[in-house]
Amino acid sequence: MAVGIFDSGLGGLTVLDAVSKRLPDVPFVYFGDNAHAPYGVRDADDVYNLTTQAVERMWDAGCDLVILACNTASAAALRRMQESWIPRDKRVLGVFVPLIEALTERKWGDNSPPREVAVKHVALFATPATVASRAFQRELAFRAIGVDVEAQACGGVVDAIEDGDLILAEAMVRSHVDALKRKMPNPEAAILGCTHYPLMQDIFQDALGPDVSVYSQANLVAASLEDYLKRHPAMVGSGTENMFLTTGDPAKVSARATQFLRRQISFQSA
Ligand code: DGL
Repeated sequence: MAVGIFDSGLGGLTVLDAVSKRLPDVPFVYFGDNAHAPYGVRDADDVYNLTTQAVERMWDAGCDLVILACNTASAAALRRMQESWIPRDKRVLGVFVPLIEALTERKWGDNSPPREVAVKHVALFATPATVASRAFQRELAFRAIGVDVEAQACGGVVDAIEDGDLILAEAMVRSHVDALKRKMPNPEAAILGCTHYPLMQDIFQDALGPDVSVYSQANLVAASLEDYLKRHPAMVGSGTENMFLTTGDPAKVSARATQFLRRQISFQSA
C-alpha cells in the first residue's frame, strides 16, 4: 500500500517533493499522464475520463488514497468522482481546499459560515479549464465573503514547462502577469493554481513585485496530508517502494523530472 500522487504531467512533482520531505516514511506512487498533458485545454468529460483511468491504475499499484495534485483534475473531475465513482474503501482528495484554508486562515474541518478575511484582492493564475470551472471561487465562497478574485487563464505555460522550454515559460508567465495587472493593478495575494507553476515561482514573484504574497500549494498540501494521515492512519500501509509511472516516454519524462527536482528520478511505463 502507498499514497498516490496524480498529475497530468510533471507539475505534481512539486507536490511529491513536498510530501516526501514531510513524510519520509510514506511510500508514494507518482502518476504523470504526460501522453495526454496538458489537461488545461480539455473539456470536463475528457479530464474526468483520463483522471479516473489514472486513479484506477494507482489503485492497482496498491494505493487506497490518491491526491489529485492537479488543479485542473480537482476542478473539473473530483466532485463527479466523489459523488458516484470512488469505492467505499478508497479516497481521492484534491488540492484546492488546503490552499483556500490557508488563504482564509481556517483550520481543517472549520465549517462555520463564511466570514470577512484579511485579503480582499486575490489574483488567481490557473489553466483555462480550472478558470472556466470557477471551482476556486466556489470553494472560497463557502469560507469567505468580500474577496475579489481576478482569474488569469495562463494558456501555454504548461506546454512550455512540459517541453522543458523554461525561457518560453518565463516569457509567458510575465505576459500573463501583465494581463492580470491590467485587470487588477494591486492584488494583495496571488494563487498559483496549477501545480506546474511553482517551477516558475520566482518569476511570478518577480513580475508581481515584493508586496504580493504568492501562495503555492506544495507545502500546504503536504501539511494537510500529514494531518489527514494522522486522523486516518489506515489509509497508508506498510509498502516501502516509491514508484514513478508515466503514460509518456519514460526516458524523456525521467530526464525532465531529474532536471526539475535536481535528483535522479526514474519513471516507468504506466
Ligand atoms: N498541473 C495541472 C494543474 O495543476 C494541470 C496542467 C495541465 O495539464 O494543463 O492544473
